[in-house]
Amino acid sequence: MTPMQAADVEAFVPLATRFNHVDEVIAFLTELGTSPMTEPGLVELDHALQCAAELKAIRPDDLALQVAGLVHDICHGRCHIRDHDRVGAAAVRPVFGDRVANLVALHVDAKRYLVVADENYRARLSAVSLKTLELQGGTMDAAEIAAFEAHPDAQDACLLRKADEAAKEPGRDVPGLDAWIDTLRHVAAMRP
Ligand SMILES: [Fe+2]
Repeated sequence: MTPMQAADVEAFVPLATRFNHVDEVIAFLTELGTSPMTEPGLVELDHALQCAAELKAIRPDDLALQVAGLVHDICHGRCHIRDHDRVGAAAVRPVFGDRVANLVALHVDAKRYLVVADENYRARLSAVSLKTLELQGGTMDAAEIAAFEAHPDAQDACLLRKADEAAKEPGRDVPGLDAWIDTLRHVAAMRP
């Protein structure tokens, strides 16, 4: 099977989730606090919070990047592993705008890119992430690399992706969802 095409993804989104207001995103993230993750010993909200915390440490002033880290896997449990990037992007675009959505959309391609472009990256992948890499299309070929690098959000998507790999640590103490409410509301209010 081939990954869903863009038009198919748009049609699929209402079956999964499409958010219209930041309060809906906050409520959904809250639900992820009881949703087991595919990585052992974590719920989905743990992973989101650890990813956002990583990005805040790297780019403290880039609130949109941090929010992208918080929501990058928001449709992970609602659709196929191949498509959760684009389904998630379409779901959050109405609330947070294009930059957050584009970063979400690129986070799987960033993994496929980094396993070729960064010799140290593959060793950071979890066993689950290595397994899903093949389902997600495997490593990029030369044409895919060129297309990825041409995207204006490509380098920030790589930052998000590296934070993603570092956000799978059971029991890690990071700020909870309450600490992100003002940031989520701010980025939603500032969307172009
Ligand atoms: Fe993730």
